[in-house]
Amino acid sequence: MCGIVGYFGQKDPKEVIVGGLKRLEYRGYDSAGVAILDGPMGQQHIKVVRAQGKLAELSKKLEHEKFTGRLGIGHTRWATHGVPSERNAHPHTVEGVSLVHNGIIENYQDIKRTLAASGATFTSDTDSELVAHLLSRKVKETGDLLKAVDGILPLLRGAYAIVAMWEKQPDVLVAFKNGPPLVIGLGEKEVIVASDVQAIISHTNKVVYIDDHEIAFVKGADLKVFTAGGNSIKKEIQTITWSADQVEKAGFKHFMHKEIHEQPRAVANACAPHIDLAAKVVRLHDVGLTDAQFKKIERIFIIACGTSYYAGVAGKYVIEKIAQVPVETDIASEFRYRSPVIPPNTLVVTISQSGETADTLAALRLAKKMGALTLSICNVRASSIDREADGRIYMNSGPEIGVASTKAFVSTLAVLNLFSVYLGSVRGQLAKNEETNIVENMLALPAQMEAVLSYDKFFGEAAMKLKDYRGVLFMGRGVSYPIALEGALKLKELAYMHAEGYAAGEMKHGPLALIDDRMLILMVCPSDEHYEKSLSNLEEARARGGKIMSIGTGDDAALKAVSDDYLSLPVANWMVNPILAALPVQLLAYHVADAMGNDVDQPRNLAKSVTVE
Ligand code: G6P
Repeated sequence: MCGIVGYFGQKDPKEVIVGGLKRLEYRGYDSAGVAILDGPMGQQHIKVVRAQGKLAELSKKLEHEKFTGRLGIGHTRWATHGVPSERNAHPHTVEGVSLVHNGIIENYQDIKRTLAASGATFTSDTDSELVAHLLSRKVKETGDLLKAVDGILPLLRGAYAIVAMWEKQPDVLVAFKNGPPLVIGLGEKEVIVASDVQAIISHTNKVVYIDDHEIAFVKGADLKVFTAGGNSIKKEIQTITWSADQVEKAGFKHFMHKEIHEQPRAVANACAPHIDLAAKVVRLHDVGLTDAQFKKIERIFIIACGTSYYAGVAGKYVIEKIAQVPVETDIASEFRYRSPVIPPNTLVVTISQSGETADTLAALRLAKKMGALTLSICNVRASSIDREADGRIYMNSGPEIGVASTKAFVSTLAVLNLFSVYLGSVRGQLAKNEETNIVENMLALPAQMEAVLSYDKFFGEAAMKLKDYRGVLFMGRGVSYPIALEGALKLKELAYMHAEGYAAGEMKHGPLALIDDRMLILMVCPSDEHYEKSLSNLEEARARGGKIMSIGTGDDAALKAVSDDYLSLPVANWMVNPILAALPVQLLAYHVADAMGNDVDQPRNLAKSVTVE
């Protein structure tokens, strides 16, 4: 994880780098630091300032610092090797070479042993410092940072994105990667290297994405990209279409709260490219896969992590019902390390907001190697998963900054609905009138979501009751089951409360033993084909003294009668119910966490983009 920034240009590097790190803080926030050139021209040296804790601690230390140089690097960390502390914070500097690193050097023990045997001493417990040692030795031999990077690359194993500088070349940055993302912004007489365009967008919208095993060489305001071994590569300059305003809080206390309220738009944007408004049909043009390929599919695997995985579980229900294709869902870290059997004509769908999650990317690569056709559902365009899959559908949620995913989740549910409709229709499983009906429901959805969100204050009041319980058991059946899973995850992530998501039919196979007046049952129970059964489960829980909060459809007297608290959703098609039900579960977790004084946007120990295993 970790966020990295490098800058060369006419602006104050301190301002650009710290501003960029602020935007990347979602990637890690246990310590931070900068290394910027300082001193008179011709004798510039690297000045390093680092601090434990969030970026605000570093900003305090930097308040009165001035740097005369135009070149610098910065880092916000999510610890892997070595506890979060100032000495383990990046940048790591060895004899005039300074670098920032995102990822893990897997053979660090071998490297450390070799370095120690030849007299090196270490000032941190990190794997990253070892790379600074290797570079500082190599640069003495070669007299050039680019050549030094090229020289040490064969020694590194693992996942990394690194930006390095050397005080003897005061206008040079060298960046290289294998795994974690690196993108380079090309502005007016300035270049910004970063983990994510969010650190770049307020300076320029022209960017170049660096691929694995490429070396980016910034000299002055020029960028050249090379392969390992020194062959020059021509890279495409891409234009980012969203603006800097989209990464501001717009009056909300937290990004997460703003992002929850952006969900109607996110869903509309996710659907817009794929709905033919006049014909009321779904069209998956430009996804990179043909109708002939869709028709041949005999089995689908959906693979993802975290919230994206739960979206995938919902996808299983809709795809199997609408398109009649068997679907298996798998957690990426499990899929990649078991011996998956992928029969011929399998489509593997990988879901990832960031498009960079290490396990999901590895699962995608494995699936491709095993001959599967692959389709990615990502939010971040040109991310690794997006680029490597055979076909792609975008979430189109816009930037998501809150570490706990919200709008990317509902956008994915919307995309999976449309995907199932398209698949059902090209395979002749879905009648035209059914397709029209689903499309109309999807088009009506953003307005219904707005209506649910207008009860935000009411959900906030209900959330305060959660604090009284020692845990919450989220339950649902059918496509409400993944919403129960996601509701429990949100509560864990944000409120640090114990919560579990369960298929309601499993209640009597264990969870019933948990029920007493200190365990809340939160049942997602919209009126659909599972309604009666979920209601019976609630009766059983109630008979054992369980406390119940339920989410249902309209003014449901029967559900209200068995519930201590009742949260109402508008009447909707079964396929859109989960998208509506996601809103109250997100808001409950958000409000209770905020009331507890937790850092909602950056929950403890977590990071948004998990680019390490
Ligand atoms: C992290 C985030 C989660 C996210 C998961 C998968 O754990 O904190 O919010 O769901 O990674 O991320 P992805 O980018 O692959 O969707």
